[in-house]
Order: sequence, then structure tokens, then C-alpha cells
Amino acid sequence: MVFFATLTVAAVGFTITVSQLVSASGEKHADEAAVVTESTGPIKSVCEAQVAKSKNPDVEVPAEFNKPYPSLEACISYDAAGDPDAPGPNQPVAFSHKHHSGMYEIPCLYCHTATDRSKMAGMPSLEVCMGCHTWFSKDFDEIEGIRVMKDKWEKKEPIEWKQIHRAQEFVKFRHNRHVKAEPTLACQECHGPVEELDKLYLVPVKAFGRMPAKKMEMGWCIECHRTKEASQDCATCHY
Ligand code: HEC
Ligand code: HEC
Ligand code: HEC
Ligand code: HEC
Ligand code: HEC
Repeated sequence: MVFFATLTVAAVGFTITVSQLVSASGEKHADEAAVVTESTGPIKSVCEAQVAKSKNPDVEVPAEFNKPYPSLEACISYDAAGDPDAPGPNQPVAFSHKHHSGMYEIPCLYCHTATDRSKMAGMPSLEVCMGCHTWFSKDFDEIEGIRVMKDKWEKKEPIEWKQIHRAQEFVKFRHNRHVKAEPTLACQECHGPVEELDKLYLVPVKAFGRMPAKKMEMGWCIECHRTKEASQDCATCHY
């Protein structure tokens, strides 16, 4: 799946692994850390060329791979989002929130349209994705996830995203009331710094009060309800 996990930089004679450029949780930027390991072969893709050029602007790149797209950032984010060793489920298309929401500042609600008005935050349909991606250069097809997305689109099949946050059946949870609470709750209060993550996972609760609990457990809900003076009645959250 991570088809350009190892990038080779022929002219300067070393190999770098994109995953090494970006920490598992995607906290580092491409330019922050370059880990150089062993040496090997020639440049075989635009993404490999992008990484080579970012290390050495004068590097010689075969003409067929000397293109602006996919961009260096797209290559690195795609690789980090698909890193099987990073926490979180491997998604059918390695989709990076850091890239879309962090770098391009696409608002959460552009994709998760239902969050402020319904129970479910909802997953974006392929129509939302293709609304942007139809306009992209064909050179982006080098990225496997882009090819998968376009293929699904042509076949009119949805992408089956794996759900990460899931409340139990016997629990009442609604996004709209939370998102519209006074004072407002940011998505990040419950989901962590999504816009900094290439690959999403259940980010652990950081500063936690008196009740030891993991996210999505009752103690987690109650602790916030206590501090925000929301209801702690059993019937608020249970049927
Ligand atoms: C508002 C426009 C927009 C929407 C909507 C959008 N994208 Fe993107 N996408 C981009 C841009 C811009 C890039 C990066 C271009 C670059 O850096 O060269 C990108 C890059 C990507 C990449 C490669 C980097 C990465 O994040 O892995 C994938 C895969 C991708 N998009 C998939 C999707 C999917 C799946 C959806 C729908 C859930 C989607 N995109 C919706 C604009 C969009
Ligand atoms: C008070 C905590 C809280 C806040 C704030 C919050 N969420 Fe959630 N989110 C949850 C919980 C709990 C679930 C699991 C819900 C379920 O299984 O029914 C969830 C599930 C989701 C899902 C999975 C699909 C779904 O609809 O269940 C998405 C996407 C999501 N949230 C996005 C967002 C976005 C975007 C925002 C901000 C606009 C946001 N959330 C704000 C707690 C929160
Ligand atoms: C361009 C579309 C797009 C934008 C913008 C976007 N998301 Fe997402 N989001 C997705 C897709 C696609 C998935 C499923 C793949 C994944 O988990 O990475 C997802 C998954 C999630 C999930 C996990 C849902 C679950 O299964 O539990 C949460 C939480 C979430 N997004 C929150 C946010 C927040 C918060 C923002 C704004 C900072 C945001 N998203 C912006 C497309 C988007
Ligand atoms: C980060 C803080 C926070 C977390 C975490 C949180 N809540 Fe809430 N919740 C609130 C606030 C604030 C309100 C009051 C909203 C209002 O009505 O203004 C509320 C209201 C509610 C309500 C009553 C409104 C409605 O939707 O009918 C329910 C039910 C609820 N929460 C369930 C849950 C469950 C279940 C969880 C855990 C899975 C949870 N909450 C986690 C802050 C939180
Ligand atoms: C703010 C929301 C909230 C309130 C208020 C709340 N609960 Fe819960 N409760 C939950 C959530 C969420 C779970 C599921 C925890 C999990 O999945 O680990 C849960 C789980 C439980 C379970 C465990 C069920 C099982 O099969 O493990 C019991 C029993 C329970 N609650 C009883 C109560 C009682 C009694 C009260 C009132 C004193 C109460 N709850 C108030 C959110 C709440």
C-alpha cells in the first residue's frame, strides 16, 4: 500500500524512507527531519524526485519525473497517512487531515457536513472529494490512493472508511448539542489535534481530572460534563 515508502536518490547516492521524514503521528514537517540511511538506485517516480530535490535543489532528475505534481507535501502526507506502523486503522485511501485541514485549511464542516445539525458527524461522500480532485493534474495519479478514489468514483462505489470513534448502542450521544454548546466545544476537545495528524487514531485524553478513564468511556464523558456543568443524570446518556 505504501508504494513509495522507500525513496532512492540516485545522484547523491542514498536512500531515505519517507516515514522517517515524518514522525508516526505526523507531528513533524517534511523539512524538519531528514534521516539518511543506506545507498541505492535511480529515481523512479515524481515523489522520489520531489524528495531528492528537497534535499538537493541541483540534483539531476530524469525529465519524465521532473514535474510539479504530486507536490512534495502531498507525497509525504500520503505516505505518513498510510504508514501501517502509525497508530490507528489503515484506511482504504490514506487520507491526511494534516494535509487537507492543516496545510490547506479546509474547514472540518466542509467534509463533515452534518456535525452541527445531526446526531452523526458523517463521512464525506466521494462527490465531496471529487469536487476538488476532478480538477487536479493527471500527474496526481501516481499516488495509489488517488487512483483508488477515481476508480471508486467511476464504479459509483463508496469508500468504506473504518470508524475510529464509536459510542456503544446503549449510549445517547449527539454532535449537534455538543458543537452548539455554550461556550462552544471545538472538535479538537474530543478528537485531539486532527489538523496536525496525517493518520487519525483515538488520541488519548491528555490532562484528565480525578477520574481515570480512557476516551469514549463513561468517566471521560462525565468528567467533562462535571467541569462544564452539563447534566450528569443517568437518563441524559442512557436509554
Ligand atoms: C477542498 C478541496 C479538496 C477536497 C474536498 C478533497 N481534497 Fe484531497 N487534496 C486536495 C489538495 C489541495 C491536495 C494536495 C495537493 C498538493 O499538495 O499538491 C489533496 C491531496 C490528496 C491526497 C494525497 C495526500 C493525502 O492526503 O494523502 C489524497 C489521497 C486525497 N487528497 C484524497 C482525498 C479524499 C479521499 C477526499 C474526500 C474525502 C479529498 N481528498 C477531498 C484538495 C481536496
Ligand atoms: C463532546 C465531544 C465531541 C465533540 C466536541 C465532537 N465530537 Fe465527533 N465524536 C464524538 C463521539 C463520542 C463520537 C462517536 C459517536 C457515535 O459513535 O455515535 C464522535 C464521532 C465522530 C465522527 C465519526 C462519524 C460519526 O458521525 O459518528 C466524526 C467524523 C466526527 N466525530 C467529527 C467531528 C467534528 C468534525 C467535530 C467538530 C465539528 C466533532 N466531531 C466534535 C465526540 C465529539
Ligand atoms: C477534505 C475532507 C475532510 C476534512 C476537511 C476533514 N475531514 Fe475528518 N475525515 C475525512 C475522511 C475522509 C475521514 C475518514 C478517513 C480517516 O479517518 O482519516 C475522516 C475522519 C475523521 C474522524 C474520525 C471519524 C471516526 O471514524 O471516528 C474525525 C474525528 C474527523 N475526521 C474530524 C475532523 C476534524 C476535527 C476536521 C477539521 C479539523 C476534519 N475532520 C476535516 C475527511 C475530512
Ligand atoms: C469536552 C466536554 C464533553 C465531553 C467529553 C462530553 N460531553 Fe456531553 N455535553 C457537554 C456539554 C457542555 C453539554 C451541554 C450542551 C448544552 O446543552 O448546552 C453536553 C450535553 C450532553 C447531552 C445532553 C444534550 C443532548 O444531546 O441531548 C448528552 C446526551 C451528552 N452530552 C452525552 C455525552 C456522552 C455520551 C459523552 C461521552 C461519549 C459526552 N457527552 C462527552 C460536554 C461534553
Ligand atoms: C455523560 C454521559 C453519561 C452519564 C451521565 C452516565 N453514563 Fe453510564 N455510560 C456512559 C458511556 C459513554 C458508557 C459506555 C462506556 C464504555 O463504552 O466503556 C457508559 C456505561 C455505563 C455502564 C456500563 C455498561 C456496560 O455494559 O459496561 C453502566 C452500568 C452505566 N453506564 C450506568 C450509569 C448510571 C447508573 C449513571 C447515572 C449515575 C450513568 N451511567 C450516567 C455515559 C454516561
